[in-house]
Amino acid sequence: PADTLALTPPMGWNSWNLFEDRVSEELIKGVADEMAANGMRDAGYQYIIIDDFWVGGRDSRNQLFPDPKRFPNGIKHLADYVHSKGLKLGIYSDAAQLTCGGVTGSLNFEELDAQTFANWGIDYLKYDYCGAPDDVTTAFTRYKKMGDALKKTGRPIVYAICEWGQRQPWLWAKAAGGHLWRTTFDSRDVWQSNDSWFMGIVEILDLQEGIARYGGPGGWNDPDLLMVGLYGKGKSSSAGPNGQKYKGCTDTEYRTSFALWSIMSAPLIVNLDVANMNKATKDILLNKELIAINQDKLGKTGESIIKKDGLQVFRKELSNGRVAILVFNRNEKATDFSYSITKALDLYAPYSIKDVFAGKEFKAKELKGKLDAHDCKVYVFSKAK
Ligand code: GLA
Repeated sequence: PADTLALTPPMGWNSWNLFEDRVSEELIKGVADEMAANGMRDAGYQYIIIDDFWVGGRDSRNQLFPDPKRFPNGIKHLADYVHSKGLKLGIYSDAAQLTCGGVTGSLNFEELDAQTFANWGIDYLKYDYCGAPDDVTTAFTRYKKMGDALKKTGRPIVYAICEWGQRQPWLWAKAAGGHLWRTTFDSRDVWQSNDSWFMGIVEILDLQEGIARYGGPGGWNDPDLLMVGLYGKGKSSSAGPNGQKYKGCTDTEYRTSFALWSIMSAPLIVNLDVANMNKATKDILLNKELIAINQDKLGKTGESIIKKDGLQVFRKELSNGRVAILVFNRNEKATDFSYSITKALDLYAPYSIKDVFAGKEFKAKELKGKLDAHDCKVYVFSKAK
């Protein structure tokens, strides 16, 4: 990689689905306090990302300033605060005149804005593509312009490219300086949405097929935010394109989505109300073994190896010769599964197998079990001594 940023998938919190246009200094400080205290920071969640609607405009010297009502003490003050909690601050802009939400974007001010972000102490930039031309050449040019500008500041800033997978960014985003790139339109707090812009977990998942090999240290496929713990409360996650309300997901579905994002080496970026997490949500987000699978230092991206009879199997190689396997039931009813470890999973050494959710180790020639609708199991295979 060109730098040492994002050697494993970024982890953190983003304001979008839940807070939308309600970002503020108070909100971000509260999130920082909470994440430092509730175990999230120590589990690896590092970046707090202010999404759209923070911008007030440009001053007489063309420098960006935040909305003074929402951020009365400015962004530098907020970054200092977030840093004092041992966390990092991310911000948002767009490769056009206006952002998706209609506030000032960075087109033609890339160097100035990158320098402003660096001066404020920003550690992560999500760069959106609303209002910009469709063609891949322009997208690459505009993204590279900001990527170069960020590099020129000399400050390590993770660069998140957000053009929704429309122009196969896995092929060029790294060359534009990106450390992660969205692979889909926006995710919504619903299992299946049957809509092509507001996507459910299953639609997002299926769009990751065939692109695993592009993810690795310094550059990751980004299937958008985790919906874990929203329970239909998100603002943009509850309003569908035809005004329909999304009901949210079950705890089983949230856990499965978290396990899938973990094994696919997706960024683990949540957008829930961290001050009011219930136990089920906490158990999911603080699951050390799933996080370790996601953050494994070998830096592989896990992928789907079997998709049959409503069952799907994912496989990710881990450090020290270990392998993570996830079996997932897409059916609407409980389903039995059975896979030969050598033939189906391509694993040959004698292995000791750990069932991550049950916390049990065992040896076997077959992986067998029964899964409720939308549930999954995760196993870690370690070479037996
Ligand atoms: C787009 C992005 C979202 C979010 C909004 C903000 O839809 O894909 O992730 O940043 O814009 O307006």
